[in-house]
Amino acid sequence: MAEMKINGDRLWASLMEMAKIGATPKGGVCRLALTDLDRDGRNLFVKWCKEAGCTVKVDQMGNIFARRPGRNNNLAPVGTGSHLDSQPTGGRFDGVYGVLAGLEVLRTLNDLKIETERPVEASVWTNEEGSRFAPAMVASGVYAGVFTLEYGLSRADADGKTMGEELKRIGYAGSEPMGGRPVHAFFETHIEQGPILEHEGQTIGVVTDAQGQRWYELTLTGQESHAGPTPMPVRRDALLGAARVIQLVNEIGLKHAPLAVSTVGMINSYPNSRNVIPGKAFLTVDFRCPVNDELTQMDTELKEGVAKIAAASRLEHDLKQIFQYDCVHFDESCVEMVRAGAKRLGYSTRDIVSGAGHDACYMSKVTPTAMIFVPCVGGISHNEIEDAKPEWIEAGGNVLFQAMLAKANELPVVGKSAETVALA
Ligand code: GLV
Ligand code: MN
Ligand code: MN
Repeated sequence: MAEMKINGDRLWASLMEMAKIGATPKGGVCRLALTDLDRDGRNLFVKWCKEAGCTVKVDQMGNIFARRPGRNNNLAPVGTGSHLDSQPTGGRFDGVYGVLAGLEVLRTLNDLKIETERPVEASVWTNEEGSRFAPAMVASGVYAGVFTLEYGLSRADADGKTMGEELKRIGYAGSEPMGGRPVHAFFETHIEQGPILEHEGQTIGVVTDAQGQRWYELTLTGQESHAGPTPMPVRRDALLGAARVIQLVNEIGLKHAPLAVSTVGMINSYPNSRNVIPGKAFLTVDFRCPVNDELTQMDTELKEGVAKIAAASRLEHDLKQIFQYDCVHFDESCVEMVRAGAKRLGYSTRDIVSGAGHDACYMSKVTPTAMIFVPCVGGISHNEIEDAKPEWIEAGGNVLFQAMLAKANELPVVGKSAETVALA
């Protein structure tokens, strides 16, 4: 029997429609979390889901769940989803692909008039990027019980606006409680955001693991003084200290390569005036590695190195780790479902470790979870030129459809599962 397939043209058209919201001149998207544009993207998703006959619920962190009922709605649903927020110079696929692939699964189930045993849900997770509000994946983190609701709602942007205030302002401060309900399985479809699949000519990345991450914020304080009369030896230049820390961070990444990577992505200098020696510098550090012990070593090297640089540069320093998650190992039976489904559909596959963080990483703490990667052109992401071929997008959607359909028809094992009580 021919395999059932999604409508790839419709999925592509929906992606291109969503990409108009926050479109940038270079062909990308700027749809920062909880801005008016994020609201417009959410509204479009909700409209499409309602047109597909789904019920839509929003939780207290603004996560959206569009549900297509099953034959037995007491059974835990099968979920999928990702995020609609983007980086300031983001692309048309990061996150939004996983959201709209989920919608495409719901639409395809409708087209094929399939009644699944379990309900099926497509979700949007709030502020996955961690760009406007740090840290990343904060709302799926609250959902999974990693962060408290108070912590999530109180995350503030550079202007001091909190997620709680901004959720209310855009009309997405929902009332559903955070998590706490069973989910049978969760799948997230995403572009790889790296070069491996395209380079090797593979269509589907079977994501077995995601690397761990640590994020830091560092403030260096020296002394503002006049750029002309202040002799070089007496300066306490905070920006110079920051430059040395950037070098240190790079050296730590190189020392732990090829597994580890390290980035300083953001720096602010005060007062940022060309003839004032900077008295204060703020910078961020992002460490990633698929081995937790290496991350711990990198952490020690950062702390020791920053202390040395600060002392040698006569600066005060305040280094805070603001975010950490350990490496994730995805559920083997869900991963196998992705691998087997892709093979059955005739797609080439390769096992892969996610370099990026994803909402699926937190979902994996509360339900069996797996991810499906497709290539992106040149491996480029977090960039307006981010691109993917329609056939890759369609292939990932087909694999998602197969995996969700199989999971949505799984019945509880009689006598073994709490769900048999719900069924009785
Ligand atoms: C999110 O995109 C991350 O991996 O930082
Ligand atoms: Mn993403
Ligand atoms: Mn991203």
